[in-house]
Amino acid sequence: MTEVTWSLEMAEKRGYPHFMLKEIYEQPRSLRNALRLQHQYLDLLTAFLDRGRELFLVAAGTSYHACLAASYMFSKLAKLTTYPVVSSEFVERYGASVGIDSIVLTVSQSGETYDTLRAVDHARMRAATVLGITNTVGSTLTRVARAYVIQQSGPEIGVAATKTFTSQLLVLAQLALRLARTRGKVSQDEIDDLEAKLVEVPSFVERTLEGQAEHVEALARKYADERLFLFLGRGVSSATALESRLKVLEITYVPSLAYPAGESKHGPISVVEEGVPCIFICPRGETRRDIVGSIMEMKARGARIIAVCEEGDEGIIDLSDDHIEMPRGVPELLSPIIYVVPLQLLAYHLATAKGLDPDKPRNLAKSVTVP
Ligand code: G6P
Repeated sequence: MTEVTWSLEMAEKRGYPHFMLKEIYEQPRSLRNALRLQHQYLDLLTAFLDRGRELFLVAAGTSYHACLAASYMFSKLAKLTTYPVVSSEFVERYGASVGIDSIVLTVSQSGETYDTLRAVDHARMRAATVLGITNTVGSTLTRVARAYVIQQSGPEIGVAATKTFTSQLLVLAQLALRLARTRGKVSQDEIDDLEAKLVEVPSFVERTLEGQAEHVEALARKYADERLFLFLGRGVSSATALESRLKVLEITYVPSLAYPAGESKHGPISVVEEGVPCIFICPRGETRRDIVGSIMEMKARGARIIAVCEEGDEGIIDLSDDHIEMPRGVPELLSPIIYVVPLQLLAYHLATAKGLDPDKPRNLAKSVTVP
């Protein structure tokens, strides 16, 4: 006889100490699910998107960061003017200008976030076309959106969203690519190339988890007592920086800053002094040259540089105190889906190193259904 020492809750965690860690590791699978969505729904959403004069991407929290990253995809690939906006600001900022030619694509894991649904109500009243991406079948969002797609991530219990973020982005990337193909604004080769890489996203994430998990855990122990982190990235990586900072804030309570790196000299640089850890997101691509400049700027003021960069990128590695190596061949536009993963892990291990429970962050709820 062997006595099973697992509690029911632990059994649900399938041996992982926390739901958050389990959900981080589920990402290769949830991403594969996001690649198997039914084509007719993606086609329908694409047809609506194509009719818009402008696109508003409306969401809260982590879902907003998915929208922020996706806004670069829609603008660059489909050449559609795209405004990412947090739900609670939508009515104030765009309420008077949104109209029949506007597409409002709302992203909500729960499909129940109060501010997001309020933005949807307003957009519908102004005759805009409301579309949705959600993880929750039967949620209010699915009832009020003209068309929607379920991202198929499976239940997410951890308050800090992880697998639902990467899947939202993978769905958004598929939509941006479909729209780009429909509109014919980008070369066939570029689209073919990105579509081929899209299919590889789950295995890029798998390789990152396999190759970097132990190293990231060691980094978390090394930096566990820091009182401030800076997260910097350029272009689409500024969304990765914001989302990674949010993970750290939510579960470690360490006040941290995230900025587009180009903006760092307009403020954040003033808090940099000897030893402040500065996490740079540095995929290969158009922004790489400028990010090197930003790293040098921070280094000159004594910051300790932790770079998340491509394996073998000696130019960046030489400038860094520590680095996290990402697989080769990730296109910059898709990089947030993969580069955020080791930083989710970093936040997780920072929290546990501090003795905090990452599944139960203080004052936060999984779903905010009240004003
Ligand atoms: C809360 C959760 C976040 C989530 C946000 C938006 O703040 O703690 O993890 O990103 O709500 O939720 P939604 O369900 O609309 O994506």
